[in-house]
Amino acid sequence: MISYNEKERVFKLDTPNTTYMIGIVDEESFVGHIYYGRKLKEAEAGYLMRTGEPPFVPSKNNRERCSFYDCFPFEYPTGGVGDYREGCIGVRTVAGHAGSMLSYVTHEIIPGKPELAGLPATFGTKGDCETLRLVCEDKYIGMQVELLYTAFQDTDVITRSVKVTNTGKEHFYLTKVYSACIDMDNRDYDMVSLHGSWARERHIQRKALGYGIQNVSSYRGESSHQDHPFLALVDRNATQENGEIYAMNFVYSGNFRAQAEVTQFDYVRMTMGIHPENFCWKLESGESFQAPEVVMVYTDKGFDAMTNAFHRLYKKHLIRGEYKDKKRPILINNWEATYFEFNTEKLLSIAREASQLGIEMLVMDDGWFGRRNFDDCALGDWKVNEEKLNGGLKYLVDEVNKLGMKFGIWFEPEMISPDSDLYRAHPDWAIAIPGRPGTESRQQFVLDLSRPEVVDCIYEQVASVLRSANIEYVKWDMNRQLTDIGSYGLPADRQGELYHRYVLAVYQMQDRLTKEFPYLLLENCSGGGARFDPGMLYFSPQIWCSDDTDAVERLEIQEGTALIYPLSTMGAHVSDCPNHALGRVTPFETRGIVALAGTFGYELDVTKIPQEDRDMIPAQVAMYHKYNDLVREGDYYRIASYSQNHKYDCWQVVSGDKKQSLVTFVQVLNRVNFKSRRILLKGLDADKRYKVVFENDDSVEDAVYSGDTLMKAGLLVPNPWGDFRARLIYLAEA
Ligand code: GLA
Repeated sequence: MISYNEKERVFKLDTPNTTYMIGIVDEESFVGHIYYGRKLKEAEAGYLMRTGEPPFVPSKNNRERCSFYDCFPFEYPTGGVGDYREGCIGVRTVAGHAGSMLSYVTHEIIPGKPELAGLPATFGTKGDCETLRLVCEDKYIGMQVELLYTAFQDTDVITRSVKVTNTGKEHFYLTKVYSACIDMDNRDYDMVSLHGSWARERHIQRKALGYGIQNVSSYRGESSHQDHPFLALVDRNATQENGEIYAMNFVYSGNFRAQAEVTQFDYVRMTMGIHPENFCWKLESGESFQAPEVVMVYTDKGFDAMTNAFHRLYKKHLIRGEYKDKKRPILINNWEATYFEFNTEKLLSIAREASQLGIEMLVMDDGWFGRRNFDDCALGDWKVNEEKLNGGLKYLVDEVNKLGMKFGIWFEPEMISPDSDLYRAHPDWAIAIPGRPGTESRQQFVLDLSRPEVVDCIYEQVASVLRSANIEYVKWDMNRQLTDIGSYGLPADRQGELYHRYVLAVYQMQDRLTKEFPYLLLENCSGGGARFDPGMLYFSPQIWCSDDTDAVERLEIQEGTALIYPLSTMGAHVSDCPNHALGRVTPFETRGIVALAGTFGYELDVTKIPQEDRDMIPAQVAMYHKYNDLVREGDYYRIASYSQNHKYDCWQVVSGDKKQSLVTFVQVLNRVNFKSRRILLKGLDADKRYKVVFENDDSVEDAVYSGDTLMKAGLLVPNPWGDFRARLIYLAEA
């Protein structure tokens, strides 16, 4: 798995199909990147660092040291002494200087994977993975940098993280700490990223990589709707099934930058880490800073292989807790049903009807606390509004439980409304620049979670609500991004720590919550899907994907999300029409089939929707129970992309034993005088025969075909009548 060739001074990290190689060169022990790609047999590729070509290593040619720094493939590049590409670390000493350079000191190969203090990270046992701890130093500053690499054995993933320790006598400031870098030769890559906005999250973007710096980033204080902490450099000809891909995904929920820089020598430097904007961390002598983890995937087999590597890793080595491998209760959420206008009787009327139809949990969304009858007040006052919830919360929960349903509740713990008792008592608890009026968003401010007293107060309020009744689900929301970065609690030279301290505090609160209430199903959310990232997935097995629940808009959002994240993590609900976000009307059946690709639930007033829609719910519930194990656990393949072809969408899941598969086909706009579509299935066993059943199309008779034929020659899907029609096709070994 991980070996060190002492003579060559080369480390070789192997996953089942890939190799990553690091070399130590010259008298100064520079740490260089040799190779990341298809698995190699030998650790002999050190020549790829080009130290035998001009300008040579400094011990052979010190007069061109600067040129050496500017072209050497560094494993963890620094800055300020001659490498003019963007480095991974920024340091400012007490004297105000910024240059640094690292040399190898020692290393250790550790079975399994150490935890990262205070941060979410992937995990694995001794049998699952091995970790290389590479210790480097800058002896002039008194700085030790530990590079951690974990090579997984059950999936083609290498994770990286970095820990910086002040080994000197004086403090210094870290002005930047990225977590991963790959310096490699450019091979005319395309750059793939996920772009979006509120209600349009994670749309796939692909463009040619050119000279200079190209990046995606967020400094909104969260991973964001707009850009996503994911970047892939891909072969210009890469497809779903073929081509090389280098992908990085950040296990972090705050500011990030993911970047590719193509240099004068046609090298590319790919980096990922915390965004340096407004970041400045003071490290006292002896203190350490732990940077978050980057997950790296390399494949030469296209996007399906990349996706499955991420999915496998996240399902097995990131998501935790009671619901990790379990079917989730089908929920009904009252947000789009009632918004703020509800009371106990209204909620119970929804629950009564829903329980009759097979729905398993009622989730009470925003508006149950303080004087919150609109979105302009009361965040921070987590006390039940008994005028609305007449009889109290426990009464409501007990009544819902009596119907055989679970009960869930919404919180937005990180926020404070200017119009709240909390703000009136503690105006200095909001993030703000003293003396400057704060920028409101949705008429709210963000709490300064860098202050432990704020965290304790909010946690206690949330926990006491949860302790007061049998609440089995929490939707943890975060409805605005950060501005006015200032803390009344931090000294001047630590204000630059606020963004990161904020994220650490969110993690700490969720850690506390999931430890005190281990049975809780936690669903993260941020104005829809603005914080859908691996950091949050470590605490919650599912995340609300988007406030856009329209079945057609969801095709693109779910395609982009599923490019990295397992279907089991994607919060997806059937909502009412015309869709509240954009006014489109789609068939109830299609809304159900699209939501079936995620966690599945409802977000509508079941007492008010048309009778024919209501009549369809028991059959949808039955479909969920029949197929959810397959959807949650199966391997996912993308067959066609509506976002690319503008006509139809198609994806497939296949069980691990290849005995079952479910194909979802969605035709967006119908076309007149058109024939059936031929789709090529994937992931089946070529030697098995499958019974193919069109679940919701009586015009197609059940038939048996071989996996070989279905994958190579394909399956015909008749053209459905009407727009926005979906087909669910089930295959089982015959
Ligand atoms: C956010 C969420 C919604 C809903 C509202 C409540 O927008 O994404 O699902 O919970 O907040 O205010």
